Amino acid sequence: MGVHSKHQQSAIDPPVSFESSAQTSLRSDTSPAERDEEGDREGPLVPPPSRAPTTILALDKNTPDAHVPRDPRLIRLTGTHPFNCEAPLTALMREGFLTSPELFFVRNHGPVPHVPDAAILDWEFTVDGLVDAPLRLTLRALLAEHEVHTYPITLVCAGNRRKEQNQVRKSNGFSWGPAGVSTALFTGVAMADVIRRARPQNRARYVCMEGADTLPNGHYGTCVKLSWVLDPNRGIMLAHEMNFQRLRPDHGRPLRAVIPGQIGGRSVKWLKRLIVTDAPSDNWYHIYDNRVLPTMVSPDVAANEPKWWTDERYAIYDLSPNSAIASPAHGETLSLVGAAESYCAKGYAYSGGGRRVTRVEVSLDQGGTWRLATVNYDEDKYRERDFHWRDTSFCWCLWTIDLPVQDIAAAKDLMVRCMDEGMCAQPRDMYWNVLGMMNNPWFRVAVHKEG
Ligand code: MTE
Repeated sequence: MGVHSKHQQSAIDPPVSFESSAQTSLRSDTSPAERDEEGDREGPLVPPPSRAPTTILALDKNTPDAHVPRDPRLIRLTGTHPFNCEAPLTALMREGFLTSPELFFVRNHGPVPHVPDAAILDWEFTVDGLVDAPLRLTLRALLAEHEVHTYPITLVCAGNRRKEQNQVRKSNGFSWGPAGVSTALFTGVAMADVIRRARPQNRARYVCMEGADTLPNGHYGTCVKLSWVLDPNRGIMLAHEMNFQRLRPDHGRPLRAVIPGQIGGRSVKWLKRLIVTDAPSDNWYHIYDNRVLPTMVSPDVAANEPKWWTDERYAIYDLSPNSAIASPAHGETLSLVGAAESYCAKGYAYSGGGRRVTRVEVSLDQGGTWRLATVNYDEDKYRERDFHWRDTSFCWCLWTIDLPVQDIAAAKDLMVRCMDEGMCAQPRDMYWNVLGMMNNPWFRVAVHKEG
């Protein structure tokens, strides 16, 4: 049972749906097209007001993405095309717990498949491999034949904060700042329902996924373990909506996998195939992307010794604890003279595998001493309406701390680190790796003061 269920009646308890709560305008029976036009919702649980951009930006006009309207506030990290972008961190944090699709980070390996509005419900995907009952389903059939749930889920690119690694030593990846992370309400069907329906065979162990985007090395694809897919606490889903609007083209319209608690690279967009196998995916992007290779593997070694890539132990699945400071922002000058007695520092933190962040600590003396920040877990407000995923946490938390002005005025910098319920903490030191993945040492912002 998610925060919203179209079809399900629970034997345990009547579902508390959004419709029966204060946010009566949160979801209506409008068509997806009409829903894109909705705006200006209010309340703590509702997504930020959001209108799909309608203009094709000049930059995109001569690219294969000339059909994709985008928000000009996003910062492009890999030139014009493919589109890889993050929001300015302050703008992202201003949105609060939920991110609007306009500012949600985007990681595209290539062109965005063009799916006209009229073809959305006819989108077909298949389930095959080690199953007794292979399936071919349209999105229309998926939604008609299965329960639909909505959950808040944070997606994070494994390259989040890679820029800091690149500053130490150039990796093979482009420079993400700390905004390769965003949270939305995802609506869809549990992947488990579809996989069970296809009746996996005894030796089945993985579910491989393939997208429709055509890339230099084939379609984008990767996998997760079958046992994770079947575990309701893992929350793995096939989503068609984000913040109650149909998915935007950049985020996988019309259908994507969403794998909570794991790196964004496992959440395959423009989903066309689920393949049940007894071995991890042999897709090029599964093997040569989203891995933390041992730190001594340089770009040269990685290019010449294939053995490093094929070792599944180096594939990343769960996210690790990470955090960042949004206020003060990098390069911001604080005017502390004549200001209030305290300065409120702010930021985000997340962890992986469903583990909740249990503490966020801030230091004004480079890790000599630490102070506890206040952690706001807005995800809990949704969890109260949810009885399947009670034990797991799939969202970032936002933290704040009031620092006495004289303390911050005397500090050179501000640092933050978090710890999760498994007592996994962010490390002090960076683990440089050739793909620049999973960078999570203590986050630092220099303090600049006026005068
Ligand atoms: N799926 C397909 N088909 N093609 C892609 O390029 N990128 C992956 C994943 N799914 C990708 C994909 C990566 S690396 C990430 S981090 C997430 O999508 C990003 O999702 P978003 O662009 O919706 O934020």
